[in-house]
Amino acid sequence: MIVLLTGAGISQESGLSTFRDADGTWTSVPIEEVATPEAFARDPSRVNAFYNSRRRKLLGADIAPNAAHLALAQLQRSRPDVILVTQNVDNLHERAGSPQALHMHGELLKARCLACEAEFSWQEDLSPESRCPDCGDSGRLRTAVVWFNERPRHLTEIAEALAACHLFVAIGTSGSVNPAAGFVEMVKGHTVEINLAPSAIAERFDEGIYGPASETVPPFVEQLMSGDFAREEAR
Ligand code: OAD
Repeated sequence: MIVLLTGAGISQESGLSTFRDADGTWTSVPIEEVATPEAFARDPSRVNAFYNSRRRKLLGADIAPNAAHLALAQLQRSRPDVILVTQNVDNLHERAGSPQALHMHGELLKARCLACEAEFSWQEDLSPESRCPDCGDSGRLRTAVVWFNERPRHLTEIAEALAACHLFVAIGTSGSVNPAAGFVEMVKGHTVEINLAPSAIAERFDEGIYGPASETVPPFVEQLMSGDFAREEAR
């Protein structure tokens, strides 16, 4: 089994900002103002405005999957033993044709009702007037993105896949946010980091491949698909 973990770096060349690079989202917007349950309780309009703007950007005509998303989708379609885990809340893996993606940090194009707990597709701006299509309550809808101080999703399934996999590949993630930063330690098999430059946890990986994801991921996937990836076959 192969586990792929993606982060904001894979979507950077598609036009979506990362979080912690020089021009990253968290360099201009304080996390505690927009990305915690406490922030939403204190100022829902501020939090909604932040995610409304990100949702509109994602739905813009200029945002599309890049060669890295497309290569991973091709790999998934060619091998049923690939599990894709993403920290990204965008839908670029799905748009690239990935048959499966575990969104551990939720999804920007979904909303959740705090009155009835239903979750559904949502492409409009969220406001106090937004009405739940399930229970009809208004003013209780929130983005289905996982905030800081909330439990990421699919953790049991991810832990099982990590323990069983013979190859773990982390792509475009800084290794600064747990639990994803600790995944590499849960793998007995070979581990590869693919990133623009060595991440904060690069030394925990067996191997690093560095450069823009759209240039590094396609040849890596090609090696895997042709059976030329010697480190994998050795196990
Ligand atoms: P970060 O912004 O922390 O890290 C992005 C990583 O991608 C960095 O290591 C960059 O070097 C790398 N990178 C940038 N451009 C790249 C490119 N073109 N090709 C390859 N790599 C590139 O983003 P994440 O690690 O995804 O959580 O952040 C993890 C979580 O922190 C996010 O899911 C989000 C954020 O706060 C929540 O919002 C809950």
